[in-house]
Amino acid sequence: MDVKKFIEEKIKEIKEKVGDEIAVNALSGGVDSSVVAILAHKALGSKVKNIFLNTGVMRENEPETIQSSFEKIGIKVEVKDVSDRFFEALKGEEDGEKKRKLFRDTFYKVLGEIVRESSAKCLLQGTIKPDVEETKAGIKTQHNILSQIGIDPEKEYGFKTIEPLIDLVKWEVREVGKELGMPETRFNTMPFLGPGLVGRVIGEVTKERVEIVRKANNIVEEEIMPLKPFQCLAVLFKDKATMKGDENAQGRNYGDIIAVRCIESKDARTAEVTEIPYDILKKIVNRITTEVPGVIKVVYDITPKPPSTIEYI
Ligand code: XMP
Repeated sequence: MDVKKFIEEKIKEIKEKVGDEIAVNALSGGVDSSVVAILAHKALGSKVKNIFLNTGVMRENEPETIQSSFEKIGIKVEVKDVSDRFFEALKGEEDGEKKRKLFRDTFYKVLGEIVRESSAKCLLQGTIKPDVEETKAGIKTQHNILSQIGIDPEKEYGFKTIEPLIDLVKWEVREVGKELGMPETRFNTMPFLGPGLVGRVIGEVTKERVEIVRKANNIVEEEIMPLKPFQCLAVLFKDKATMKGDENAQGRNYGDIIAVRCIESKDARTAEVTEIPYDILKKIVNRITTEVPGVIKVVYDITPKPPSTIEYI
């Protein structure tokens, strides 16, 4: 791929598609939507409004970190706290695919309201090729796939979508980010799910359960990131495990189970498990079981992709 040519073409294309209108870019903080933010900034300047929806299922300090890192490169980001809408929508749902769809619907409903309020007609988004492939194949619903599966965003939510990265895979997006002068910390971010920690909670997504997995995920990232893996994560199981209480404990007590996963991959289509040194694993177990209330068991998942996917749902 000729990265310079790609950038020139996409800037031109965004300018043409948006015309004299205003556009909204839905930033998730991941590398894909961050690259789109920079392309759109170059193409449209102040005619693009960058919105970060705080869905309540983001990682620790994510909204603040993203806002400040973009402001450093002169791009203003507006953070909107819409977390109550998401927890309300997800209430009582346990099925992984249905939770993804509920997340997607809430996301676009809220975004549609914002786009209409700002009188924009276009929504820019960082959809990439594997997102489309996996959704079409019925493997899992990526939250940003609409027109490719027959949902007309204009009819359904009131805006047109512009997807400049639709033909690229992850490593190509990173090349584009690098060429655009994006800070290393942004274009080399670890992949994270559009539906956020919804994908890391098996069973019902509640504020309390998200808080557990957020804390565990943060510990996993703090301990493993120095190894520079492709991706590491924590998942909260629905089942509970028996807790070893003290001698005087009455009856049986149960606590939560967290799975830790760490993989190496080039494009997330296949993945190998990282051989994490045992002392790091032991430290993670110790920190999670002492710092995250209610968690009493931690397992390390050593399954490659295939047969498993990287995330659990
Ligand atoms: P799986 O679990 O399918 O994940 O092996 C492949 C890669 O995609 C990420 N992923 C997502 N990214 N929206 C995204 O932007 C999503 O809905 C989504 N689901 C999975 C996952 O973290 C991994 O890097």
